Parts: sequence; structure tokens; C-alpha cells
Amino acid sequence: MSDSVKTSEQLPEHPDFWCKRFGSGTTPWDAGKVPEQFADFAARQATPLNTLIPGCGSGWEAACLAEHGWPVTALDFSPTAVDRARDILGNSAVHLVCADFFQWQPEQPLDLIYERAFLCALPRKLWADWGRRVAELLPPGGLLAGYFFVCDQLKGPPFGILPEQLDELLTPHFERIEDAAVHDSIPVFSGRERWQVWRRR
Ligand SMILES: C[S@@+](CC[C@H](N)C(=O)[O-])C[C@H]1O[C@@H](n2cnc3c(N)ncnc32)[C@H](O)[C@@H]1O
Repeated sequence: MSDSVKTSEQLPEHPDFWCKRFGSGTTPWDAGKVPEQFADFAARQATPLNTLIPGCGSGWEAACLAEHGWPVTALDFSPTAVDRARDILGNSAVHLVCADFFQWQPEQPLDLIYERAFLCALPRKLWADWGRRVAELLPPGGLLAGYFFVCDQLKGPPFGILPEQLDELLTPHFERIEDAAVHDSIPVFSGRERWQVWRRR
């Protein structure tokens, strides 16, 4: 079926796609917890990092970082996802924003962009824009850290990315400083996730 005959609820580049899934509670990507390597990464940082979580969904990690005093913006373009995050976050100091990642501008310079199940939620036609945008949003020394769905799964979301495709997106502006297997993946990502940290040149 071509995009022209699909409804907005069938197009992952449209908020309606995600609103439908959050609205019906069909969220198989939702870990319901803070993944171990990210918790460890956060604990290793000497000072709080001004963090953006694009495509935050329920926002579990945002709540955890805010509890530790980090400035955090959790951003999602689906109003239903933002409602869900608001329920999870309660009175937490997270800056929760309903906006499109490709349009949003930070009020303060960012130190960290946290990636989990966002790139793999984007249709491949948006990947080059994602690579450009993370590079634009981070100053030299800024970090992109998180989980990447590295595999050859064509049909998505989640859309798999090959190692060489990820390198092509990021190596023009970043160097990879961590790369490890993931042992606490939920079933939808199991065996096909890498924990990686990239530093902006
Ligand atoms: C697969 S979910 C992952 C949610 C969360 N990161 C997690 O790990 O549970 C992808 C999320 O990205 C959001 N999203 C997709 N495209 C977006 C965009 N252009 N701007 C902001 N959010 C977007 C969707 O609304 C959805 O909540």
C-alpha cells in the first residue's frame, strides 16, 4: 500500500499512529523501567547533564534523572503519549513537551540526548534528518547515549538499522566512545540492541 492511501494512524511519522497505540495500551516497546546501562551511565557522570529525551513515550528515564536533580526535557509529538508520561511523572521536575523533535529548539544548550526506541520508530526516509538534528542540537563534547536497534529488520516500527548505516549517520559529526551488548532488553528488542555512547566532535 502506498503512503497516499494510508491513514495517519498507519504512518509512524504521524502522531496519530502513536496516539492510537498509547490510547489502546498497545505499547510493546515500553520497558516500564530504567534500563541498566543507562542507569549506570547516569551514575558515572560527575555532574548533572542537561538532557533531552526525544520520543520519550512514558518517560521512565526522565523521572529517574529528575529525581537525581538533572535538568531533563522529555519530548513527544503524540498528545496521548504526553498524557501517559504526565501520569508517570507526577510532580517530577521534568520539562514535558508535546512537540516534533525536528522542529523543537532547546532553551538552554544540551549536554546529552538519550536515545531509546526513537530512531527505530522513525521511517528510514527520516534517518538522515535525525542524524543532522542530533548533531545540530549538541555542542562539541555533547553526548548521544542510549540503545540502538541494530539488525536487518526491514518492516517496522521498530525499523532495524545496520551497523554501517548507523556509522554513516553519525560518524560525520560524532565519535563512538562506548559500544556494548545489552542484557536486560525486553522481548521486542532482545539480542538486537546495542548500548552506545557517541561524543560530538
Ligand atoms: C517506540 S516509542 C518509544 C517511546 C520511549 N522512548 C520508550 O523507550 O518507551 C516512539 C515514540 O516516539 C514518538 N515520536 C515519533 N516521532 C516523533 C517526532 N518526530 N517527534 C517527537 N516524538 C516522536 C512517538 O510518539 C512515540 O512515543
